[in-house]
Amino acid sequence: MNDLEELVQAAVADFAAAGTPAQLEDAKARYTGKSGRVTELLKGMAALSAEEKKTRGAAINETKRYIESALTERRQALAEAQLEAQLRAEALDVTLPGRQAGQGGLHPVSRTLERIEQIFGSMGFDVADGPEIETDWYSFTALNNPENHPARSMQDTFYVDMQDEAGRPLCLRPHTSPMQVRYARQHAATHAATDPLPEIRVIAPGRTYRVDSDATHSPMFHQCEGLWIGENVSFKDLKAVFSDFFRTFFETDDLQLRFRPSFFPFTEPSAEVDIAFAQGPLKGRWLEVAGSGQVHPNVVRNFGLDPERYIGFAFGMGPDRLTMLRYGVNDLRLFFDGDLRFLSQFQ
Ligand code: DAH
Repeated sequence: MNDLEELVQAAVADFAAAGTPAQLEDAKARYTGKSGRVTELLKGMAALSAEEKKTRGAAINETKRYIESALTERRQALAEAQLEAQLRAEALDVTLPGRQAGQGGLHPVSRTLERIEQIFGSMGFDVADGPEIETDWYSFTALNNPENHPARSMQDTFYVDMQDEAGRPLCLRPHTSPMQVRYARQHAATHAATDPLPEIRVIAPGRTYRVDSDATHSPMFHQCEGLWIGENVSFKDLKAVFSDFFRTFFETDDLQLRFRPSFFPFTEPSAEVDIAFAQGPLKGRWLEVAGSGQVHPNVVRNFGLDPERYIGFAFGMGPDRLTMLRYGVNDLRLFFDGDLRFLSQFQ
């Protein structure tokens, strides 16, 4: 076998070994590329006589043609193999059953919110909705939380790089409590001519935001605010409302309630509300479910009402927490990851 036949054989073997179009192009470069072996042979002809150039030149050209046709063949083979693999991968099995249009369902937290609205609705509470991008004034100042007061740091807020029409700073509301003030002011204005003012009884469920993230805190979470104001509304009423609510919500009368002294700028006195189940996996453990208290006179004044005359209570509870307790889920993040394998269990 002469050197040219050997070269053809080496090229054919190299091409066959190339498993992908990219590898094949690399192999091609080793032969017919700028410094490939065929190109080198052609350059080497400069030293030959005119007679030798003729025969050697013709032989090298023939070699080149062989190599090129081997290359074309291999290119086609690779393209066909690729097409076949693709067809195999995309094969349609017409014997498989068709895909059903999936049926959606309510998110477990939405179920809780519906339950809360239904239960409070049955106790005569209105349901109010309000903005999630809220002024600093409604979020803090109106709630007896003065500017630069350290109590503001109880809620690590997301500030928004915008202002409202009056030039007031805006934030993502860190709680639903601004809705107390919005609703009460509107109520007071609507019924300005009625004396005494019809009682305010409202809940305001919705999304709230804080710079917070772990197994039991999410930067976006839900709250449900509650407010009951009248001429003679007391802590006794708050206790009755909460007892009824939690027993109905958890479908058990075997449930204890306790009020633990606490601090909120917008209530005085303030209390955390804990519940304990008499049965089940959480039996006997005190679980914090809400903050509450008698609305502070300064806040009642911001409602546009006379605190000497109107009094009542407010509360804020966590529907996410209630959902976790009701379904026995221990990681809050699961609710907001959007994983259908988790969410579809609640349908
Ligand atoms: N806004 C409070 C919080 O986010 C919860 C709260 C406590 C709301 C007491 C109230 C209340 O209306 O009276 O922690």
